Amino acid sequence: MHVAFIMDGNGRWAQAHGLPRHEGHRRGASVIKKVLRVAEKSGIKYVTFFAFSSENFSRPESEVNFLMNLFEKFLKKYGKTLCEREVHFRAIGNLSQLPLNLQLAIEKLAQSTAHFDKFHLTVALNYGARSEVIQATGNLLKNKDVDVENLTWEDFEQYLYTKDLPDPDLIIRTSGEQRLSNFLLLKSAYAELYFTKTYWPDFNEEEFLLAIEDYGARERRMGKINDKTNN
Ligand code: FPP
Repeated sequence: MHVAFIMDGNGRWAQAHGLPRHEGHRRGASVIKKVLRVAEKSGIKYVTFFAFSSENFSRPESEVNFLMNLFEKFLKKYGKTLCEREVHFRAIGNLSQLPLNLQLAIEKLAQSTAHFDKFHLTVALNYGARSEVIQATGNLLKNKDVDVENLTWEDFEQYLYTKDLPDPDLIIRTSGEQRLSNFLLLKSAYAELYFTKTYWPDFNEEEFLLAIEDYGARERRMGKINDKTNN
């Protein structure tokens, strides 16, 4: 099972507590650890976090810098633990626009964990689904061996950042907003969506278990006729 998170509401959480926005991000980072623990215990093998959208680069420079430092610190702090727990780490997005130090930290951790298959942690950084599709199409067209007339989704998917990941089964968005905001648009064609009003820094084990329970009660038809009504 693949669960993807749109971690929203860090700024509003901070505001509600009379704190600067970066405190919301800092606390938001600590939630990731809790979520990973629940996922591992619940037998969820793939977890993806939308940490920074391409659009987020237009935020004030101080906030962008704070977030970039936070990402790098996170990778350095938990790199060893991730290896010990046999977690395959990936980052998806246009990584070449990220600060060099962060790119290097990503590359190092991604390479040193690439052989693990017990659990898969993916972080979307400078990610936007539309630019992912444009970039994928460009690369596909550069490949002269591609038979465009008979192209299948499976062929096309190989050009996406998410090529080695299964489709997300469940997408959870916090903070009450009910939209995908350019996140995994094609991969989430059949994903179940779960929205909670809780701000990301307050998201916790109980909330995650509730979302998993809610997902478990849904009937996933994937465009097919329900077996029960078909009998
Ligand atoms: C959205 O809240 C959150 C972000 C843009 C940043 C998400 C980053 C983290 C949770 C930090 C940790 C991540 C990693 C991978 C270590 P917002 O700032 O848009 O909140 P608002 O909508 O209330 O202003």
